[in-house]
Amino acid sequence: MREKIVASNWKMNKTLYEGLNLVRDLQMAMNGKTINCNIIVCPPFIHLASLATLTFSGIVRLGAQNCSDKASGAYTGEVSAAMLASVGIHYVILGHSERRAYYGETNAMLKEKVKLALNHVLQPIFCIGEVLAEREAGIQKEVVEKQIRESLFDLSAKEFGNIVLAYEPVWAIGTGKTATSEQAQEMHAFIRATIADKYGSAVAEETSILYGGSCNAGNAKELFTNPDVDGGLIGGASLAVETLLPIIEAFS
Ligand code: 13P
Repeated sequence: MREKIVASNWKMNKTLYEGLNLVRDLQMAMNGKTINCNIIVCPPFIHLASLATLTFSGIVRLGAQNCSDKASGAYTGEVSAAMLASVGIHYVILGHSERRAYYGETNAMLKEKVKLALNHVLQPIFCIGEVLAEREAGIQKEVVEKQIRESLFDLSAKEFGNIVLAYEPVWAIGTGKTATSEQAQEMHAFIRATIADKYGSAVAEETSILYGGSCNAGNAKELFTNPDVDGGLIGGASLAVETLLPIIEAFS
């Protein structure tokens, strides 16, 4: 059975104090409940080490939102995969559309990041997704297939087994406009078939594919009921316990 996951992407939100409170409150809110998915929280880099002490033995696991495409050295302002691993981080979001659009991250650069993350036993949560113009042109599958192929398909099947994918249609991110359940399922099934073509169906069946893009308490259950949707990567709704907890509980 592949993992079911609800991952929070805080993006550039929360001071340290606010972040510590949010994670502590989330842990308290889940206390005594049966939780049927893995919970990952991805705060800004600077909070990771502090949060690691809070989450050390609990159900919440931590991820970063990015890492460098270089191993170490004179790269001012960068944070390496080795540094993330050294503070007890398990996951790293790579290829988020905001990184691609605002910071010029390319498929080739992301390929390097993925390799470095895997070398340091970090599981990439690798984001893919088309912009609105690409969906309107009907080329969303080609776009997503190219993102996967150019950044991930040099990996061995064993390495690929550590990848979590997140399909995030860019037009649905932060817009309140969610992909319909059918649109999500269709793309997730296509992504799984693309993985199966390359690595075989056993690997494809084990790969968790998350949906991201205005996922919230109102639509999570319907989205997660789809056979190829294994959870969510949540932005806005992850910033408060009241909005995140119902998404976690959608896996009842
Ligand atoms: P929203 O949930 O705010 O649309 O953000 C989704 C996202 O980008 C998660 O990585």
